[in-house]
Amino acid sequence: MMCEEVRAIISTIQTDGVQSTQPDDEDQESSVLHIVGNSRLSGHVPISGAKNSTLAIMAGALLSSDGCRITNVPSLADVQRMIDILSALGIKIDRDGDALDIDASHIGQSSAPYELVSKLRASFFAIGPVLARLGVARIPLPGGCAIGARPVDLHVRGLQAMGADVQIEHGIVQAYSRQPGGRLRGAKIYLDYPSVGATETLMMAATLAEGETIIENAAQEPEVVDLADFCIAMGAKIQGAGTKTIYIDGVDRMHATEYAIIPDRIEAGTFMVAAAITKSILDISPVVPDHLTAVIAKLQEIGAKVSYESPTCLRVEGSDCHRGTDIETLPYPGFPTDMQAQFMALLTLSEGNSVVKETVFENRLQHVAELCRMGANIRLKGNIAVVTGVPTLSGAPVTATDLRASAALVLAGLAAQGETQIKGLHHLDRGYDRIEHKLRQLGANIYRTSEAPVA
Ligand code: UD1
Repeated sequence: MMCEEVRAIISTIQTDGVQSTQPDDEDQESSVLHIVGNSRLSGHVPISGAKNSTLAIMAGALLSSDGCRITNVPSLADVQRMIDILSALGIKIDRDGDALDIDASHIGQSSAPYELVSKLRASFFAIGPVLARLGVARIPLPGGCAIGARPVDLHVRGLQAMGADVQIEHGIVQAYSRQPGGRLRGAKIYLDYPSVGATETLMMAATLAEGETIIENAAQEPEVVDLADFCIAMGAKIQGAGTKTIYIDGVDRMHATEYAIIPDRIEAGTFMVAAAITKSILDISPVVPDHLTAVIAKLQEIGAKVSYESPTCLRVEGSDCHRGTDIETLPYPGFPTDMQAQFMALLTLSEGNSVVKETVFENRLQHVAELCRMGANIRLKGNIAVVTGVPTLSGAPVTATDLRASAALVLAGLAAQGETQIKGLHHLDRGYDRIEHKLRQLGANIYRTSEAPVA
């Protein structure tokens, strides 16, 4: 793209006037989830498509000059937010059940509105494909969130290494490629930390760059592999996704594809903990057991039984007496930070002392105070929580502080004596596809009202 054209696009950028169709957070703010706990669950849990894969792959669809169909898309508030953001970029999107048709043949805007990006941090990842397609992108800094400051310096440094001029002004990251034709150029990039988002941003940007890009110390999460597989299905040349070094050979254009999202390992892990904490037997499928290695190992250490009903179905059987264990969150294949809160709920009812260390995000232990309101015995020092098992939890009014914290409170509520009332449900709705319906099918006494909880 010529510089004049780049300037023309920048001059037409408008960040106002985009209507959001996302569900109103305020409704979910005043809703309350009631759980009458201490009953056994049984049956089969159907696992939806992975939230984090879906969000990255929706951004990845911008790389293709033809349309793409993505299937096994979960029904989540975050997915709707991503639809709103892509629509604001001028992309045509149609939803048909669990399928999304994304037509990015024409990207009408190189800029996304702050009011949408600030509600979905993952939407920042669109900077990679928009820059790769148009040679220019303007995406507002998403800002921090409940679990930490979450900077984007690794994304920015990687794009700069690929020849982009990146300025951050008035809270907006403005990037454009100085290369002739607006094309990024391949580069050797070392990530100081194996950030999932930075790996995804840079991998997407590199698919259309000139020459080879090597990303060292890349994130190895299954969702990175899913995004790479999607890009490969569109014609990208990527090798090594799922290892620490990813090689990308830039291609001139990407074509149409149809692609199914992998099962959500965090949703599966959450229901595995539900089986253990309620001392129940649950069959959970479809799953990719290899994505759950750390979760399975910790459940077995605690005393739950995990067996393979089939290559894609796990049976989890809770024990009458679980024992504590230590957990340290780490990048994949280490124990996932997205499962830390749910395991903490289980450890509150497991015999002895457990030490939980959160190393990925600096502020991801806010559920501790809420679990203590339900009778848990947890001492907190910095990023370390020492959990001493108690015989029972008691239902109480509690407030969800972030997505996985809300799941931890649901799990604690399922095991507790009496009724738990959970506020802050907009967090839960971001990442769990019809969780109440799925739990009710297993026999849980769970329902939502719009009342305020009893103090
Ligand atoms: C993704 C997941 C999130 C998960 C997390 C870690 C999505 C949509 N979200 O988030 O559910 O909890 O991976 O597995 O996929 N960091 C920097 N600079 C950067 C980028 C990250 O310092 O430029 C830091 C972050 O602040 C954090 C750590 O690196 O402390 C890990 O973040 P990252 O792996 O990037 O997580 P996300 O991609 O945001």
